[in-house]
Amino acid sequence: MSNLTFTMIKPDATAKGFTGAILDQIIKAGFSVKAMKWTKLSNEQAGEFYAVHKERGFYKELVEFMSSAPIVAAVLEKENAVEDFRKLIGATDPSKAAEGTIRKQFAASIGENAVHGSDSNENALIESNFFFSGLERF
Ligand code: RTP
Ligand code: MG
Repeated sequence: MSNLTFTMIKPDATAKGFTGAILDQIIKAGFSVKAMKWTKLSNEQAGEFYAVHKERGFYKELVEFMSSAPIVAAVLEKENAVEDFRKLIGATDPSKAAEGTIRKQFAASIGENAVHGSDSNENALIESNFFFSGLERF
């Protein structure tokens, strides 16, 4: 079990002004921020981040969406972080997400679903390293 996960507040949510409300829920759920930045992915960077989905039908749409507006990237700490964060954000498709989850409240569709959460400890580390150097973590 690792205590770290990685998240992004996605372009749909930053554009709609949900950044503050989403961060508030994350912190109230017991996660502490180890690193955070407001940035915008290029098409190429979004493609690299989601390279694991390269063969999927939604890849091009996903890459275009993820580079369409700014995002907030963050490394979060909590006991059992990866699993607990996935529970907090809810199912990929907001119509299937449990009541009270972040995606249920803020996501518009399966494609534009407000927030990213790492799916394993290994990917949490890879994704954190994609965005942050050691000098940016406290
Ligand atoms: P994420 O990686 O962003 O936290 O989302 P996830 O694990 O819940 O879902 P994943 O299967 O990893 O898919 C990554 C992102 O691709 C978009 N997607 N679109 N149109 C579609 O059918 C479809 N399926 C997935 C979503 O933005 C999803 O979060
Ligand atoms: Mg995923």
